[in-house]
Amino acid sequence: MTTMSEKGVFISRSLTLLFAVSMLFLMLSSSILFQFGDNSVVPRSIYKLIVVSKTPVIIKDDQTSEPIELKSTPFVGSSCKESCFKSDLIKPTVSCDRNHALLKIFMYDLPPEFHFGLLGWKGDRSQIWPNVSDLSEIPKYPGGLNLQHSIEYWLTLNLLSSTAPNLSTPCTAILVKNATRADVIFVPFFSSLSYNRHSKIHSTGKTSLDKILQERLVKYLKGRDEWKRLGGKDHMIVAHHPNSMLLARKHLGSAMFVLADFGRYPAHIANIDKDIIAPYKHVVRLVDAGDSPSFEDRRVLVYFQGAIYRKDGGMLRQKLYYLMKDEKDVHFTFGTVSSGGVRKASRGMISSKFCLNIAGDTPSSNRMFDAIASHCVPVVISDNIEVPFEDVLDYSKFAIFVPASDALKKGYLLKLLRGVQREKWIEMWERLKQIAPHFEYQFPSQSGDAVDMIWQAVYRKISSVHKTVGRENRYQMSQKFLTS
Ligand SMILES: *[C@@H]1O[C@H](CO)[C@@H](O)[C@H](O)[C@H]1NC(C)=O
Ligand SMILES: *[C@@H]1O[C@H](CO)[C@@H](O)[C@H](O)[C@H]1NC(C)=O
Ligand SMILES: *[C@@H]1O[C@H](CO)[C@@H](O)[C@H](O)[C@H]1NC(C)=O
Repeated sequence: MTTMSEKGVFISRSLTLLFAVSMLFLMLSSSILFQFGDNSVVPRSIYKLIVVSKTPVIIKDDQTSEPIELKSTPFVGSSCKESCFKSDLIKPTVSCDRNHALLKIFMYDLPPEFHFGLLGWKGDRSQIWPNVSDLSEIPKYPGGLNLQHSIEYWLTLNLLSSTAPNLSTPCTAILVKNATRADVIFVPFFSSLSYNRHSKIHSTGKTSLDKILQERLVKYLKGRDEWKRLGGKDHMIVAHHPNSMLLARKHLGSAMFVLADFGRYPAHIANIDKDIIAPYKHVVRLVDAGDSPSFEDRRVLVYFQGAIYRKDGGMLRQKLYYLMKDEKDVHFTFGTVSSGGVRKASRGMISSKFCLNIAGDTPSSNRMFDAIASHCVPVVISDNIEVPFEDVLDYSKFAIFVPASDALKKGYLLKLLRGVQREKWIEMWERLKQIAPHFEYQFPSQSGDAVDMIWQAVYRKISSVHKTVGRENRYQMSQKFLTS
């Protein structure tokens, strides 16, 4: 019911927006007839909102030469092996105090083939979990693009570390042995890895391992007392890759999903009321706040690199490409980020003021999180995107959301971005440097990092104390910065 009325509100909002935009255009075109004068018929604030700035920042040709040299070696796709593991955090420490934890979590002892076994891990004896106190025993997640959906791995490691004696962790969520004392029941299936690695069928007539695991998982859960108690409502399932859990999702839709977006889900199976949007793990390296190139050093105005899709969203990318390709201060190329390309993308984003996040075949992509890690102000052109932690992070302070219909107007986007004053950009950049740690996945987890933020989001969701107020701020952005 709520979803239906939400849809209705959304449609009527969109219609209102469309109407408003058409009216403004009508007014604007008449104002152009009146020669852009200050005594135009359009009220000044509205006029400014559309035209953005009368004195666009002009970036001269000589500034658009080669991207600046970076001081340290950019992160190369597969080297997360070192950079995501913080051995200096392995130190004697008191165990988590279960009375102070925000969440008590029961985790099923699923056989390793559902989790670390997918990484080739084989424990001794009847060992189900690796000993996380010993870094060398933790199997590493494959690097490259697999990493962007590795959320399942970081959450599981964090839970295991909550009961390990010598690890420093935030203790926001801790494992409990008795399910009846738990707030949440965690299902430790590495569904994205299962999809990425095992969804291909190699010989005819065979079923993929990914499908087999999903079928077994559904059967397992439906047979458990823990599931039957609330029909799965208190269960938490990570399905970050948009194609993960493709078969199982319709059977397990009562659970809380941890997702990248809702693009490939019907609203009755996944929606913002019960589910959590988690950030992708960025693939470019995280820029040190003290080492982040300044406004002047970022000589490219707008950066985009991504795949071309022939489906709906892909049209948007192509149209934008034709609108922007001839601009000197714009870097807009197609091509997937292969591991060699990660290095280039990292250099490109760190040399740019704004990084585009354009809807592709799904509303979300890791590009937004690569932009955040590069302190490149994200410009989001994806009307159906969901962003993580929007109830506690005000995205309008560090990102710009542009409705696709506006972005496709000739000249609109560049005018908007060139009109962002230096001081405004610096404000957003400073904010990016502050919030970037909230999007870091690492082990052991630290207070306020992505793992910790997800547990806090779960806590807010089950206690339903917060409403998503952040969403309403999205499109007020351009207005905000033009009023100074
Ligand atoms: C944890 O640290 C304490 C103090 O250094 C040490 O005595 C103990 O053996 C350690 N435990 C494990 C499991 O490493
Ligand atoms: C786990 O690893 C730590 C560190 O190497 C070690 O001290 C501890 O005894 C191990 N625990 C088990 C159960 O093997
Ligand atoms: C789990 O907790 C419940 C309620 O506190 C208790 O009745 C039950 O015996 C406990 N189960 C186990 C296995 O300890």
